[in-house]
Order: sequence, then structure tokens, then C-alpha cells
Amino acid sequence: MDVERWENRYREGNLPWDTGTPDEHLIDIVARHPIPPGRALEIGCGTGTNAIWLATQGFRVTALDISTEATAQARAKAKAAGAHCAFVACDFVRNPPEQDNFAFAFDRGCLHSFDAAWDRARFASNLAALMADDGLWLSLIGSTDGPPRDSGPPRRSALDVVAAIEPHFEILRLDAIFLRKDIDNPAQAWLCLSRKRREYAD
Ligand SMILES: C[S@@+](CC[C@H](N)C(=O)[O-])C[C@H]1O[C@@H](n2cnc3c(N)ncnc32)[C@H](O)[C@@H]1O
Repeated sequence: MDVERWENRYREGNLPWDTGTPDEHLIDIVARHPIPPGRALEIGCGTGTNAIWLATQGFRVTALDISTEATAQARAKAKAAGAHCAFVACDFVRNPPEQDNFAFAFDRGCLHSFDAAWDRARFASNLAALMADDGLWLSLIGSTDGPPRDSGPPRRSALDVVAAIEPHFEILRLDAIFLRKDIDNPAQAWLCLSRKRREYAD
């Protein structure tokens, strides 16, 4: 989807992915893994619910989205919640931010929105360049598994996920999950938790 289509979705409020509550998988991973409190990056933050939740957990959060309307809505939501997050409008694949050294990164439905394998690979390499050594990335990605459906998140195979992520990140978990539990017939998805690779010694 190009930038104008994302903008229109946020202007119209046509956001079937926006639950308004922090993602249960994010909460679980942050609880289970010793992620040092530090800088966190959310890519494709939408209206900011998960970024705001990360800020309440002590992370210093930068959250970005290609849609200026989404980041404006996220900023207003954070202000109302008294949370401190930096919301940035940018195209993460073509114009990533320069700030780096993130200890944790999260995307829910952003990596999977790219149809081209090249864009997904660029997404992962851009992210690796911004992460601290051993930084963790949690990505939630629509799956090719499950019954046929005409709507819902884009469908990516395990091979698509690994091909994009594995060159730059060591995959710690690749779990088959449901993105949501609050609706009938939820879409199947992948939970991919990975750690930035250190440079290989020659
Ligand atoms: C399916 S939505 C998920 C939004 C949010 N993570 C959530 O769960 O509510 C995907 C998000 O990725 C954003 N996005 C798409 N392409 C992007 C890009 N190239 N750079 C940054 N954000 C992008 C969209 O604007 C949209 O907000």
C-alpha cells in the first residue's frame, strides 16, 4: 500500500487492526525476556497503543509510521495518557531514521505489509543497522497458514519471514499464533523473536 492509501485509512478510521489495547504477545515477551530497560523502536506504530504501553514499562520509545495522520493521532493519545514517546513520520524502508542503539524493536503488521521480498529484506537490514548489539526484535506477521480468507492481514510464509530476517538477526522463536483472540475466526500469524547478529569474525 502506498503512503496515500495508509493516510486515507487513518483519516477515515478504517483500521481493522487497531484493537486499542496493548498486544498480548508484546506483553508476554517483555515479561519473559530480560530486555534491559533502554531505547525501544516501534515500526509502523499506527495510533500508538503499543508504543505508549512500552513507555509505561520504562522504555524510552521512538515510534514511527509512514502516515502523518497516524503519528498525529498517536501523539494526541500519548499526551492524553501522560506518556512520553517520540512519534516520527517516515518511510522506514526508503528513509529510515538516523538515531540508533535500540535495545528492543517491535512491529505488529508492518513487515508483513510489504509484498516485495526486496522491501522486507531492506526493512530487516535497516533495522539491524539501528539496533544495539544483541538487541531483540519482536515481529508479528500474518501467515499463509489457516483457511482461505478474503480479508485480514497479508499472508507471508515461514520462508518469507526467515528469508528477510535471518541474514541480520538470529531467530530465537518462530511460533504459529493467532494475531487476536477477541474476534471470531482470527487470522493465523507468526510471532518471530530475533536477536541482532554480531558481525562475523573473519
Ligand atoms: C497493519 S498496520 C498496523 C499498525 C499498528 N502496528 C497496529 O498494530 O495497530 C501497518 C502500519 O504500518 C505502517 N507502514 C506501512 N508502510 C510503512 C513504511 N514504509 N514505513 C513506516 N510505516 C509503514 C502503516 O501506516 C500502518 O500504520
